Amino acid sequence: MSIYFDSAATTSLDPIVIDEMLKYMREDFGNPSSTHAFGRKTRAAIDLARRRVAAHIHAEPGEIVFTSGGTEADNMAILCSVKDLGIKHCITSAIEHHAVLYPLEELAREGKIKLSIVDVHENGHIDLDHLKRLLSENERSFVSLMHANNELGNLLPIKEVGEICRDHDAIFHSDTVQTIAHYELNVSELYVHFITCAGHKFHGPKGSGFLYVDSSLKINPIIRGGSQERGIRAGTENVYGIMGLAKALDLAYELLDEHTSYIKGLKMHMAERLQEEFPGMAFNGDAYGESLYTVLNVCLPETDKKEMLLFNLDIEGVSVSGGSACSSGSDVGSHVLTAIGSNPNRPSIRFSFSKNNTMEEVDFAVRKLKDIYALPVMA
Ligand SMILES: Cc1ncc(COP(=O)(O)O)c(C=O)c1O
Repeated sequence: MSIYFDSAATTSLDPIVIDEMLKYMREDFGNPSSTHAFGRKTRAAIDLARRRVAAHIHAEPGEIVFTSGGTEADNMAILCSVKDLGIKHCITSAIEHHAVLYPLEELAREGKIKLSIVDVHENGHIDLDHLKRLLSENERSFVSLMHANNELGNLLPIKEVGEICRDHDAIFHSDTVQTIAHYELNVSELYVHFITCAGHKFHGPKGSGFLYVDSSLKINPIIRGGSQERGIRAGTENVYGIMGLAKALDLAYELLDEHTSYIKGLKMHMAERLQEEFPGMAFNGDAYGESLYTVLNVCLPETDKKEMLLFNLDIEGVSVSGGSACSSGSDVGSHVLTAIGSNPNRPSIRFSFSKNNTMEEVDFAVRKLKDIYALPVMA
C-alpha cells in the first residue's frame, strides 16, 4: 500500500495536464520572443493561458505575472512594495510561510523597513483588533497575511482583512498558494493588491506560478534582462509550465464543487476516526471551523515513539508531513506550531488530501497509526 497524504506539499500531475505540456515540449517549442511562426505560436498560447488564468480570479490579463512558483511571487510582492511603492512599515504574522517571513526579516535587518508582527490566537486565527491597532499607530503599511495556512489549514477572512487595509490605506498581499484552485477567488470584489499562486498545489507542474498585481500599482522587475512579462519579469518563459498551470486551473475550477465535497468528506472522516482511536488528542488550528477542507493537523497523545512516528508511518506506506513545536531554541520544529503554543512533547501530524485519496486510505492510515502507538517500547 502506498498512500499519499501530503497534497499541501505538492500534488501529482494530472494526466491531462501532462498531455497539454508534452505538446509544448515536442512540437510547439518556439521561443515566445521570436517573431517567426514557431515563436508566434507559443506567444499566442501564453497570451491565451494568461487570459484564462485571469478570468478564473476575475482579474485583467495584464495583472498576471507568471513566475517560477509561489516563493518567487511572494518575494516579488514584498520586494517591489518596498522598492517601488515607498513602503517603510510592514505587518505580517509569525505563522506565515518562509517565502514571506524570510524576505521581510531580511529587509528589517537591513534597516529598510520596520516590521510588526500581528498577534495570533491560540486557534491559529489572526487577531484583527491588533492588526487595526498596528495599522493606526504606524505610517502607511504593507500587510502580508496568508489566505490559508499551509500547516494548520486556517483560513483568513480575506475580504474583511482587505477592508481593514482599505480603511487604513495599506497595501495588502495575501499568499493564496493553498486556496487558488480550491476556492473561488474574485479579486474584483476583494481589496487586495497582490495574490500568489503555485501550480503544483493543484495537480499542475512544479516551478510554475503567478503573481497577481492590481493594475493601480506600478512595479519594476527584480529579475532583470529581457522584456518578457511586459517588462516586469525577465527570462524566457517556462512555456510548458505556464500551459500546464493554466490547464490544471481550468480542470480544478471545472469540478470545484464535486472535489470540495469529496475531499471535505475525507478530512471529516479522518478527524472522527482519529478521535475515536486517540481519546485526548487535539487539533492544531481551527479544524472544524474556518479551515481548508484539504488540511487536517492533529496533535496526538504523548508517546515514546514520537521521534519515529513519521518514519514508521512511512515504512507502512503512509506519507504525511508533521513534526512538532520547537521544544528548545536549537531544534528545528515548526515555527507555526510554536507560534500557536502547540505542546512540543506531543507529536503533530499534518494530513493533507486530494481528489485522488479514498476513504479506505483514511481507514488504513488510522489503523497503522494505532498499531505504531501499540508497538512495544524498544529497550
Ligand atoms: C503557503 C505557501 N506559500 C508559498 C509556497 C511556496 O511555493 P513554491 O513551492 O511554488 O515556491 C508554498 C509551498 O510550499 C506554500 O504552501
